[in-house]
Amino acid sequence: MTDIVITEFMDEAAVATLKARYSVHHDPELFGKPDELATLVADIPALIVRNQTQVRGALLAGAKNLKVVGRLGVGLDNIDMEACSARAIQVFPATGANSLSVVEYVIGTAMTLLRGAYFANSAMIAGEFPKTKLIGREIAGKRMGLVGFGAIARDAARHARALGMTVAAYDPYVPAGDAWQGIEKLELDALLATSDVISIHLPLTPETRGLIGEAAFAKMKPDAILINAARGGIMDEAALVAALKGGCLGGAALDVFEQEPLKADGAKLFAGTPNLILTPHIAGNTVESNGRVSGLVAERVMAALEGRA
Ligand SMILES: NC(=O)c1ccc[n+]([C@@H]2O[C@H](COP(=O)([O-])OP(=O)(O)OC[C@H]3O[C@@H](n4cnc5c(N)ncnc54)[C@H](O)[C@@H]3O)[C@@H](O)[C@H]2O)c1
Repeated sequence: MTDIVITEFMDEAAVATLKARYSVHHDPELFGKPDELATLVADIPALIVRNQTQVRGALLAGAKNLKVVGRLGVGLDNIDMEACSARAIQVFPATGANSLSVVEYVIGTAMTLLRGAYFANSAMIAGEFPKTKLIGREIAGKRMGLVGFGAIARDAARHARALGMTVAAYDPYVPAGDAWQGIEKLELDALLATSDVISIHLPLTPETRGLIGEAAFAKMKPDAILINAARGGIMDEAALVAALKGGCLGGAALDVFEQEPLKADGAKLFAGTPNLILTPHIAGNTVESNGRVSGLVAERVMAALEGRA
Protein backbone atom coordinates (compact mmCIF):
# COMPACT_ATOMS: atom_id res chain seq x y z
CA MET A 1 0.00 0.00 0.00
CA THR A 2 1.25 3.49 -0.84
CA ASP A 3 1.96 5.84 2.10
CA ILE A 4 3.04 9.01 0.31
CA VAL A 5 1.99 10.38 -3.08
CA ILE A 6 4.12 13.18 -4.58
CA THR A 7 2.32 14.96 -7.43
CA GLU A 8 5.02 17.35 -8.68
CA PHE A 9 8.79 17.43 -8.96
CA MET A 10 10.80 16.89 -5.79
CA ASP A 11 14.54 16.68 -5.28
CA GLU A 12 15.61 13.05 -5.80
CA ALA A 13 17.73 12.91 -2.62
CA ALA A 14 14.69 13.86 -0.51
CA VAL A 15 12.51 11.35 -2.37
CA ALA A 16 15.15 8.66 -1.64
CA THR A 17 15.05 9.58 2.07
CA LEU A 18 11.27 9.10 2.07
CA LYS A 19 11.54 5.84 0.10
CA ALA A 20 13.96 4.42 2.66
CA ARG A 21 11.10 4.42 5.21
CA TYR A 22 7.85 4.53 3.26
CA SER A 23 6.16 3.33 0.14
CA VAL A 24 6.26 6.38 -2.15
CA HIS A 25 4.61 7.12 -5.49
CA HIS A 26 6.42 10.04 -7.17
CA ASP A 27 5.22 11.29 -10.54
CA PRO A 28 6.28 14.89 -11.32
CA GLU A 29 3.38 15.15 -13.81
CA LEU A 30 0.67 13.60 -11.63
CA PHE A 31 -0.97 16.97 -10.98
CA GLY A 32 -2.12 16.90 -14.62
CA LYS A 33 -3.74 13.43 -14.36
CA PRO A 34 -6.79 13.98 -12.11
CA ASP A 35 -8.35 10.51 -12.51
CA GLU A 36 -5.12 8.68 -11.66
CA LEU A 37 -4.49 11.08 -8.77
CA ALA A 38 -7.99 10.50 -7.34
CA THR A 39 -7.38 6.73 -7.31
CA LEU A 40 -3.91 7.06 -5.80
CA VAL A 41 -4.96 9.30 -2.90
CA ALA A 42 -7.90 7.14 -1.78
CA ASP A 43 -6.03 5.50 1.14
CA ILE A 44 -2.84 7.47 1.65
CA PRO A 45 -1.93 9.27 4.89
CA ALA A 46 0.46 11.78 3.22
CA LEU A 47 0.40 13.91 0.07
CA ILE A 48 3.22 16.15 -1.16
CA VAL A 49 2.49 18.90 -3.71
CA ARG A 50 3.94 22.09 -5.19
CA ASN A 51 1.55 24.79 -6.42
CA GLN A 52 -0.03 23.11 -9.45
CA THR A 53 -2.05 20.54 -7.49
CA GLN A 54 -5.35 21.88 -6.17
CA VAL A 55 -5.81 20.24 -2.77
CA ARG A 56 -9.51 20.87 -2.36
CA GLY A 57 -12.97 19.66 -3.37
CA ALA A 58 -13.26 16.15 -4.76
CA LEU A 59 -9.53 15.40 -4.34
CA LEU A 60 -9.61 16.20 -0.64
CA ALA A 61 -12.97 14.47 -0.09
CA GLY A 62 -11.65 11.32 -1.79
CA ALA A 63 -8.48 11.24 0.31
CA LYS A 64 -10.31 9.77 3.29
CA ASN A 65 -7.27 8.82 5.38
CA LEU A 66 -5.20 11.92 4.66
CA LYS A 67 -3.31 13.17 7.72
CA VAL A 68 -0.50 15.29 6.27
CA VAL A 69 0.05 17.59 3.28
CA GLY A 70 3.60 18.71 2.50
CA ARG A 71 3.83 21.84 0.35
CA LEU A 72 7.05 22.19 -1.67
CA GLY A 73 7.00 25.99 -1.40
CA VAL A 74 5.29 28.56 0.79
CA GLY A 75 2.08 29.89 -0.85
CA LEU A 76 -0.99 28.01 0.40
CA ASP A 77 -3.56 29.34 -2.06
CA ASN A 78 -3.79 25.93 -3.82
CA ILE A 79 -4.78 24.22 -0.57
CA ASP A 80 -8.19 24.46 1.10
CA MET A 81 -6.80 25.28 4.53
CA GLU A 82 -10.24 25.47 6.17
CA ALA A 83 -11.19 22.00 4.98
CA CYS A 84 -7.81 20.62 6.10
CA SER A 85 -8.17 22.23 9.50
CA ALA A 86 -11.74 20.86 9.90
CA ARG A 87 -10.38 17.35 9.31
CA ALA A 88 -7.23 17.93 11.42
CA ILE A 89 -5.03 17.40 8.35
CA GLN A 90 -1.64 18.98 9.08
CA VAL A 91 -0.21 21.18 6.30
CA PHE A 92 3.53 21.79 6.19
CA PRO A 93 4.90 24.50 3.88
CA ALA A 94 8.67 24.94 3.40
CA THR A 95 8.69 28.32 5.09
CA GLY A 96 11.96 30.17 4.57
CA ALA A 97 13.60 27.49 2.43
CA ASN A 98 13.20 29.27 -0.94
CA SER A 99 13.31 32.84 0.30
CA LEU A 100 16.91 33.47 -0.80
CA SER A 101 16.15 32.35 -4.36
CA VAL A 102 13.18 34.73 -4.58
CA VAL A 103 15.28 37.59 -3.18
CA GLU A 104 18.08 36.97 -5.71
CA TYR A 105 15.44 36.95 -8.48
CA VAL A 106 14.08 40.31 -7.27
CA ILE A 107 17.52 41.91 -7.01
CA GLY A 108 18.73 40.34 -10.25
CA THR A 109 15.75 41.41 -12.34
CA ALA A 110 15.75 44.87 -10.73
CA MET A 111 19.42 45.39 -11.68
CA THR A 112 18.85 44.04 -15.17
CA LEU A 113 15.81 46.27 -15.76
CA LEU A 114 17.51 49.36 -14.32
CA ARG A 115 20.46 48.82 -16.69
CA GLY A 116 18.33 47.89 -19.68
CA ALA A 117 21.13 45.43 -20.39
CA TYR A 118 18.87 42.52 -21.37
CA PHE A 119 17.77 44.56 -24.35
CA ALA A 120 21.24 44.50 -25.92
CA ASN A 121 21.26 40.94 -27.36
CA SER A 122 18.73 41.34 -30.15
CA ALA A 123 20.04 44.77 -31.14
CA MET A 124 23.63 43.51 -31.23
CA ILE A 125 22.76 40.36 -33.16
CA ALA A 126 21.07 42.69 -35.66
CA GLY A 127 24.46 44.42 -36.05
CA GLU A 128 23.96 47.42 -33.77
CA PHE A 129 26.37 48.52 -31.03
CA PRO A 130 23.99 50.64 -28.87
CA LYS A 131 26.62 51.89 -26.42
CA THR A 132 25.09 55.31 -25.95
CA LYS A 133 21.42 54.20 -26.06
CA LEU A 134 21.83 51.71 -23.24
CA ILE A 135 23.01 53.97 -20.45
CA GLY A 136 21.23 52.48 -17.47
CA ARG A 137 20.88 53.26 -13.80
CA GLU A 138 22.66 51.98 -10.69
CA ILE A 139 20.64 50.24 -7.98
CA ALA A 140 22.61 51.93 -5.16
CA GLY A 141 20.84 55.01 -3.84
CA LYS A 142 17.46 53.95 -5.22
CA ARG A 143 14.40 53.26 -3.08
CA MET A 144 13.06 49.72 -2.85
CA GLY A 145 9.33 49.69 -2.04
CA LEU A 146 8.09 46.38 -0.68
CA VAL A 147 4.37 45.66 -0.88
CA GLY A 148 3.92 43.24 2.00
CA PHE A 149 6.55 42.90 4.70
CA GLY A 150 6.64 39.22 5.60
CA ALA A 151 9.47 36.68 5.49
CA ILE A 152 10.64 37.16 1.88
CA ALA A 153 10.23 40.94 1.90
CA ARG A 154 12.38 41.19 5.04
CA ASP A 155 15.13 39.15 3.38
CA ALA A 156 14.79 41.36 0.30
CA ALA A 157 15.11 44.44 2.52
CA ARG A 158 18.39 43.15 3.98
CA HIS A 159 19.85 42.50 0.53
CA ALA A 160 18.60 45.81 -0.87
CA ARG A 161 20.17 47.76 1.99
CA ALA A 162 23.45 45.89 1.57
CA LEU A 163 23.45 47.22 -2.01
CA GLY A 164 23.00 50.79 -0.82
CA MET A 165 19.26 51.09 -1.41
CA THR A 166 16.86 52.77 0.98
CA VAL A 167 13.88 50.57 1.79
CA ALA A 168 10.23 51.30 2.50
CA ALA A 169 7.41 48.83 2.99
CA TYR A 170 3.63 48.71 3.15
CA ASP A 171 2.06 46.10 5.40
CA PRO A 172 -0.78 47.14 7.72
CA TYR A 173 -0.66 43.75 9.44
CA VAL A 174 2.87 44.13 10.80
CA PRO A 175 2.65 46.11 14.04
CA ALA A 176 4.84 49.18 14.48
CA GLY A 177 8.12 48.34 16.18
CA ASP A 178 8.27 44.78 14.99
CA ALA A 179 11.14 44.30 12.56
CA TRP A 180 10.87 47.78 11.04
CA GLN A 181 14.32 48.98 12.11
CA GLY A 182 15.68 51.12 9.32
CA ILE A 183 12.71 50.37 7.04
CA GLU A 184 10.27 53.19 6.40
CA LYS A 185 6.65 52.18 7.04
CA LEU A 186 4.44 53.78 4.37
CA GLU A 187 0.86 53.71 3.19
CA LEU A 188 0.47 52.03 -0.19
CA ASP A 189 -0.08 55.22 -2.21
CA ALA A 190 3.03 56.91 -0.77
CA LEU A 191 5.08 53.78 -1.37
CA LEU A 192 3.97 53.51 -4.99
CA ALA A 193 4.61 57.19 -5.65
CA THR A 194 8.13 57.30 -4.22
CA SER A 195 9.76 53.94 -4.99
CA ASP A 196 12.20 53.23 -7.82
CA VAL A 197 11.82 49.45 -7.52
CA ILE A 198 8.45 48.11 -6.32
CA SER A 199 8.38 44.45 -5.38
CA ILE A 200 5.22 42.57 -4.41
CA HIS A 201 5.42 40.08 -1.52
CA LEU A 202 1.79 39.39 -0.63
CA PRO A 203 -0.33 36.27 -0.45
CA LEU A 204 -3.24 36.10 -2.92
CA THR A 205 -6.38 36.75 -0.86
CA PRO A 206 -9.75 38.38 -1.63
CA GLU A 207 -8.22 41.59 -0.21
CA THR A 208 -5.04 41.52 -2.31
CA ARG A 209 -6.64 40.37 -5.59
CA GLY A 210 -6.30 43.24 -8.09
CA LEU A 211 -4.53 45.47 -5.52
CA ILE A 212 -2.03 46.63 -8.14
CA GLY A 213 -4.27 47.80 -10.98
CA GLU A 214 -4.72 50.82 -13.23
CA ALA A 215 -5.03 53.28 -10.31
CA ALA A 216 -1.86 51.92 -8.69
CA PHE A 217 0.15 52.15 -11.93
CA ALA A 218 -0.99 55.78 -12.34
CA LYS A 219 0.68 56.60 -9.01
CA MET A 220 4.07 55.06 -9.83
CA LYS A 221 7.07 57.02 -11.08
CA PRO A 222 7.24 56.73 -14.89
CA ASP A 223 10.70 55.14 -14.65
CA ALA A 224 9.85 52.77 -11.77
CA ILE A 225 10.51 49.03 -12.01
CA LEU A 226 7.76 46.62 -10.86
CA ILE A 227 8.45 43.02 -9.85
CA ASN A 228 5.81 40.42 -9.09
CA ALA A 229 7.24 37.15 -7.82
CA ALA A 230 4.39 36.65 -5.34
CA ARG A 231 1.14 35.50 -6.97
CA GLY A 232 -0.68 36.22 -10.21
CA GLY A 233 -4.00 37.95 -9.65
CA ILE A 234 -2.55 40.47 -7.18
CA MET A 235 -1.51 42.57 -10.17
CA ASP A 236 -3.74 43.38 -13.16
CA GLU A 237 -1.82 42.10 -16.20
CA ALA A 238 -3.66 44.25 -18.77
CA ALA A 239 -3.05 47.38 -16.69
CA LEU A 240 0.67 46.53 -16.49
CA VAL A 241 0.93 46.10 -20.25
CA ALA A 242 -0.89 49.43 -20.78
CA ALA A 243 1.48 51.18 -18.35
CA LEU A 244 4.61 49.79 -20.06
CA LYS A 245 3.34 50.48 -23.58
CA GLY A 246 2.21 53.98 -22.54
CA GLY A 247 5.65 54.83 -21.09
CA CYS A 248 4.16 55.22 -17.58
CA LEU A 249 6.42 52.53 -16.12
CA GLY A 250 10.14 51.86 -16.61
CA GLY A 251 10.08 48.06 -16.65
CA ALA A 252 8.66 44.96 -15.06
CA ALA A 253 9.48 41.36 -14.21
CA LEU A 254 6.63 38.86 -13.85
CA ASP A 255 7.23 35.40 -12.48
CA VAL A 256 3.60 34.63 -11.67
CA PHE A 257 0.40 34.89 -13.71
CA GLU A 258 -3.37 35.01 -13.34
CA GLN A 259 -3.55 31.72 -15.26
CA GLU A 260 -0.75 29.23 -14.72
CA PRO A 261 0.72 27.71 -16.71
CA LEU A 262 0.61 30.71 -19.04
CA LYS A 263 -0.42 29.36 -22.47
CA ALA A 264 -0.06 30.91 -25.92
CA ASP A 265 -3.51 32.52 -25.76
CA GLY A 266 -2.89 34.23 -22.41
CA ALA A 267 0.66 35.17 -23.38
CA LYS A 268 -0.55 37.16 -26.42
CA LEU A 269 -1.39 40.01 -24.04
CA PHE A 270 2.34 40.53 -23.39
CA ALA A 271 3.51 40.48 -27.02
CA GLY A 272 5.39 43.61 -28.06
CA THR A 273 5.50 44.99 -24.52
CA PRO A 274 8.77 46.85 -23.89
CA ASN A 275 11.07 46.33 -20.90
CA LEU A 276 9.28 43.24 -19.68
CA ILE A 277 10.87 40.06 -18.31
CA LEU A 278 8.61 36.99 -18.14
CA THR A 279 9.65 33.87 -16.25
CA PRO A 280 7.63 30.67 -15.61
CA HIS A 281 7.16 30.79 -11.81
CA ILE A 282 10.79 29.98 -11.08
CA ALA A 283 11.75 32.77 -8.68
CA GLY A 284 11.80 30.46 -5.70
CA ASN A 285 13.18 27.57 -7.67
CA THR A 286 16.91 26.99 -7.88
CA VAL A 287 19.05 23.88 -7.55
CA GLU A 288 19.92 24.99 -4.03
CA SER A 289 16.41 25.92 -2.90
CA ASN A 290 14.94 22.76 -4.41
CA GLY A 291 17.30 20.75 -2.21
CA ARG A 292 16.41 22.81 0.88
CA VAL A 293 12.64 22.86 0.22
CA SER A 294 12.43 19.13 -0.57
CA GLY A 295 14.64 18.15 2.39
CA LEU A 296 12.61 20.27 4.81
CA VAL A 297 9.23 19.00 3.56
CA ALA A 298 10.41 15.35 3.60
CA GLU A 299 11.59 15.79 7.20
CA ARG A 300 8.36 17.49 8.30
CA VAL A 301 6.10 14.92 6.61
CA MET A 302 8.04 12.01 8.18
CA ALA A 303 7.93 13.71 11.59
CA ALA A 304 4.15 14.11 11.30
CA LEU A 305 3.64 10.50 10.20
CA GLU A 306 5.76 9.34 13.13
CA GLY A 307 3.96 11.55 15.67
CA ARG A 308 6.98 13.84 16.14
CA ALA A 309 5.40 17.01 14.63
N1 LIG B 1 7.50 33.02 -7.30
C1 LIG B 1 7.89 32.09 -6.45
O1 LIG B 1 8.56 31.15 -6.83
C2 LIG B 1 7.53 32.22 -4.99
C3 LIG B 1 8.33 31.58 -4.04
C4 LIG B 1 8.03 31.74 -2.70
C5 LIG B 1 6.95 32.54 -2.29
N2 LIG B 1 6.18 33.13 -3.24
C6 LIG B 1 5.04 33.98 -2.84
O2 LIG B 1 5.55 35.15 -2.22
C7 LIG B 1 4.52 35.70 -1.38
C8 LIG B 1 5.14 36.15 -0.05
O3 LIG B 1 5.69 35.03 0.64
P1 LIG B 1 6.21 35.18 2.15
O4 LIG B 1 6.83 33.87 2.51
O5 LIG B 1 7.01 36.41 2.30
O6 LIG B 1 4.83 35.32 2.92
P2 LIG B 1 4.58 35.88 4.40
O7 LIG B 1 3.30 35.26 4.84
O8 LIG B 1 5.78 35.73 5.25
O9 LIG B 1 4.36 37.45 4.15
C9 LIG B 1 3.23 37.98 3.53
C10 LIG B 1 2.99 39.36 4.12
O10 LIG B 1 1.90 39.95 3.43
C11 LIG B 1 1.17 40.73 4.37
N3 LIG B 1 -0.18 40.98 3.90
C12 LIG B 1 -1.22 40.14 3.81
N4 LIG B 1 -2.31 40.76 3.31
C13 LIG B 1 -1.92 42.03 3.06
C14 LIG B 1 -2.58 43.18 2.51
N5 LIG B 1 -3.86 43.11 2.13
N6 LIG B 1 -1.88 44.32 2.39
C15 LIG B 1 -0.58 44.40 2.77
N7 LIG B 1 0.11 43.35 3.31
C16 LIG B 1 -0.57 42.19 3.44
C17 LIG B 1 1.20 39.91 5.65
O11 LIG B 1 0.96 40.75 6.79
C18 LIG B 1 2.61 39.35 5.62
O12 LIG B 1 3.50 40.15 6.37
C19 LIG B 1 3.44 34.62 -1.27
O13 LIG B 1 2.39 34.93 -2.17
C20 LIG B 1 4.14 33.38 -1.77
O14 LIG B 1 3.23 32.46 -2.30
C21 LIG B 1 6.44 33.00 -4.59
